Amino acid sequence: MSETESTAPQVFRDIAPLQQHLQEVRREGRKIALVPTMGALHEGHLALVRKALEVAEEVVVTIFVNPTQFGPSEDLASYPRNEEADLQALGKLGKFTIFIPAAEEMYPADFSTFIDEAKLSKGLCGVSRPQFFRGVLTIVGKLFNIVHPDVAVFGQKDAQQAAVIQKMVRDLHFGVEILTHPTVREEDGLAMSSRNQYLSNAQREEARALSKSLFKAKQMVEEGVCSTDRVIAEVTHLLSQHRRVRLIYAQIVDSETLEARREIVPGKSLFALAAWVDQVRLIDNIQL
Ligand code: PAJ
Repeated sequence: MSETESTAPQVFRDIAPLQQHLQEVRREGRKIALVPTMGALHEGHLALVRKALEVAEEVVVTIFVNPTQFGPSEDLASYPRNEEADLQALGKLGKFTIFIPAAEEMYPADFSTFIDEAKLSKGLCGVSRPQFFRGVLTIVGKLFNIVHPDVAVFGQKDAQQAAVIQKMVRDLHFGVEILTHPTVREEDGLAMSSRNQYLSNAQREEARALSKSLFKAKQMVEEGVCSTDRVIAEVTHLLSQHRRVRLIYAQIVDSETLEARREIVPGKSLFALAAWVDQVRLIDNIQL
């Protein structure tokens, strides 16, 4: 199907009928790919969906703003929601099974079991968002158990999230193949994010500094700099020139274990950062 045509997607809001449908899919021997999202879909999300369409006959996209991954002072209530636009964007890409549960469907009143990863999830974003990965793993684990996908696709934009999910799959034998897709960026380098909608023009301008500093780091490594300290010092200096930007962390870690690295190993080191642009928390990363 060409991307200009449009089909009405099949939307499920309850677990039982979704599972009935997927049972049929499995009986027919069709491979299932899962793309979990919180909606407010942009080109980054759609790139994951396209990848899923390449590897499986049945693609399940979930749209659920997961309350357990938001801290008490975070943006759960104001998180952008636009179901109609999301369904339209997906309808242009192909035929999907879409799961949009209500919070009560995923977390009934007596819900009390969570998944907690104890190593990779504790550094980087885990420091300033201590409940975040517990919430992410719990919802992703639940979605894996509901959908039983063969493959699930995640974005490298959230590199720590992808690594922590990969670890959960290994530790708990979920038997789901995890695929990742590179970060999709705006023309000026800003990583696409649903939270970019919060930025005013002035903040949007300042937010460019994040990706710019990552590209600078990559350039330094390509020119032969291997000292983590030198690269971090340059990046923090660059960011300090933007008065709306306040750095939460900028770290160079091993791409797989997420452990801090003193020396950069080209191809195996990840530079990850989080920053406030005024009241908007953004993250970005680059493989060095
Ligand atoms: P959300 O932020 O909606 O992102 C859904 C998926 O899209 C994630 O795998 C994320 O890494 C990917 N993504 C977001 N922006 C991207 C970009 N610019 N380029 C490439 N991929 C991008 O991440 C979540 O939701 C949630 O934590 C979730 C996994 C759905 C659990 O609630």
